[in-house]
Amino acid sequence: MIRWLFASLHLLGLGVGLGAVWARARALREPLDAAGLRRVFYADSWWGVAAALWIGTGLVRLIGGLEKGMDYYLRNHVFWGKMTLLLAVLLLELSPMVTLVRWRIQARRGEMPDTRRAGRFASISYVQAALVLLMVLAAVVMARGIGTAPRG
Ligand code: HEM
Repeated sequence: MIRWLFASLHLLGLGVGLGAVWARARALREPLDAAGLRRVFYADSWWGVAAALWIGTGLVRLIGGLEKGMDYYLRNHVFWGKMTLLLAVLLLELSPMVTLVRWRIQARRGEMPDTRRAGRFASISYVQAALVLLMVLAAVVMARGIGTAPRG
C-alpha cells in the first residue's frame, strides 16, 4: 500500500507541477495589476507544492527501497540524467523564487512591485516546463531498466 501511495503522489506532483509552471508562465505574460499578480502567486505556490511533493516522495521511493532499491538507481545513468535535469530546474528557479517572494511582501504592503523582469521569468518557466517533460521521459526509461550499468 505504501508503495503505490508514494508512486501515486509522485505522479500527482507531475500533474500539479506541469500545470502550475505553465500557468505561472502565462500569468507572467499578462498585465500585472493586483489581480494579475494574484494569478502569478497562486500558480507559483502550486509549483512549490509540486516540488515538495516530487522531491519528498522521490527520495522516499529512492532511499526507502519502495521500488528497485537505491543501488539500482545509483547505478542507472538515466536516473543521474533525471537528477541533473532536476538540478537545472532548481537552479533556474533561484531568481524567480527570490523575486516572487519579494513581490508578495510588497503586494501585501499595498505597494506595486517592479515587474520589469516578468517576461524573463515567463521564459524561465517555459524552459522549466520543457525540462519537466524531459524528466518524465527519463523517469519512464529509468523505471524500465534502461541505463543500468553492469555490476562490478
Ligand atoms: C529528488 C527527486 C526525485 C527522485 C529521487 C525520484 C525518484 C524516483 C523513483 C525511485 C521512481 C520509481 C522508478 C521505478 O518505478 O523504478 C520514480 C518514478 C518516476 N518519477 Fe521521479 N524522482 C524525483 C523527482 C521527479 C520529478 C521532479 C519528476 C517530474 C517529472 C519525476 C517523475 C517521475 C515519473 C513520471 C516516474 C514514473 C516512472 C514510471 O513508472 O514509468 N520524478 N522517481
